[in-house]
Amino acid sequence: MKKTILITGGAGFIGSHVVRWFVNHYPQYHILNLDKLTYAGNLENLIDIEHQPNYQFLKGDITDEQFIDQLFATYPIDAVIHLAAESHVDRSIMDPLGFVRTNVLGTAVLLNACRKYWTSALTDKLFYQVSTDEVYGSLGESGYFSEQSKYDPRSPYAASKAGADHLVRAYFHTYHLPIVISNCSNNYGPYQFPEKLIPLVIRNIQQNKPVPVYGKGENVRDWLWVEDHVRAIDLIFHHGRRGETYTIGGNNEWKNIDLVKLICKCMDEKLGKPPGSSEKLITFVKDRAGHDMRYAIDASRIRSELGWQPSITFEEGIRRTIDWYLSHPEWLEHVTSSTYQQYYQQQYVEREHNN
Ligand code: NAD
Ligand code: DAU
Repeated sequence: MKKTILITGGAGFIGSHVVRWFVNHYPQYHILNLDKLTYAGNLENLIDIEHQPNYQFLKGDITDEQFIDQLFATYPIDAVIHLAAESHVDRSIMDPLGFVRTNVLGTAVLLNACRKYWTSALTDKLFYQVSTDEVYGSLGESGYFSEQSKYDPRSPYAASKAGADHLVRAYFHTYHLPIVISNCSNNYGPYQFPEKLIPLVIRNIQQNKPVPVYGKGENVRDWLWVEDHVRAIDLIFHHGRRGETYTIGGNNEWKNIDLVKLICKCMDEKLGKPPGSSEKLITFVKDRAGHDMRYAIDASRIRSELGWQPSITFEEGIRRTIDWYLSHPEWLEHVTSSTYQQYYQQQYVEREHNN
């Protein structure tokens, strides 16, 4: 079936994988990629598909109501897959209002355009909210987040994503807008901006710089290969029950310090350094404020209803990720060449002096 799909945030990390997947797998869909191109958005992520006839890029801001309305008036949009967001917890601690603006207001503007422009045949429409497990807060040593977990966000980022999720459900109940939400755990893989743990560690080892581990490195995250998240999004988009939520995770929990040591070991092998060299770069730094202790996902609903499961092991995914970063130095150079240095100085260098 022909469809016009608006993907927001398609120049970012996960968004670019979603765009590539839909462009390549569904030639009958017209894919509109709407992105503001903040520091995290980069069209280099999509060079391989930018000339495909079913792909179009539009630069714009989801908080700009006039622009979004104009977009809906111009294109026959059937569905929205909404990923555009400010996504980094540490930045949300520095600038909470920026996160509220983009993540809450931006989502509301998109929902409202759907409400205004989708006036008939609502059953063929869909607003898909790509959300995070961070809305559920922090786990202790046991237990898992599932679709039944209550919302308990603890960082400005998580609270802004929770606010957006609530709005999406409110539009479902109040206006019968067809929606679906998925809440996923930590993604990793190619094209992730090196402010996030895994690419930051790889880059710092490459540059022989200190590898910052927050607190004691005891916090636990459940890591998922980004293309496995994309396959889940595809399944939910096509077969997920409207009005429902799906939690997605890798069943792959790692303490930060163990993960960092694993990357150090792989990097020693890849760079031909003596075993133990990269580990010497590990530096314990001041903890993140309100640092959530553990995330872990019970993904049994998406497994049983939609037959999804992760496709590769973590060892394989980490190896592929490291290989990708080592073979794309120009990408790393480009994304870190402008405001990244200023952010790094504020987050790591000035913070250490404050200790
Ligand atoms: P990212 O920061 O790499 O990309 C975000 C993209 O949104 C960028 O291309 C940026 O330019 C764009 N954007 C930001 N503000 C915008 C605006 N006002 N208008 C239009 N575009 C704007 O983020 P990511 O890690 O790829 O995450 C994508 C989505 O998935 C987010 O909604 C995030 O909350 C969610 N998510 C991320 C993870 C993860 O591990 N990275 C896990 C679960 C859910
Ligand atoms: O769980 C899903 C979420 O995962 C997404 O919603 C977010 O968009 C994404 O950024 C990610 O959030 P985290 O805060 O878990 O990811 P981050 O890579 O920033 O950090 C992972 C863990 O590593 C976390 O416990 C903090 C720690 N850390 C992070 C950095 C950047 C360090 O110890 N040192 C660092 O320098």
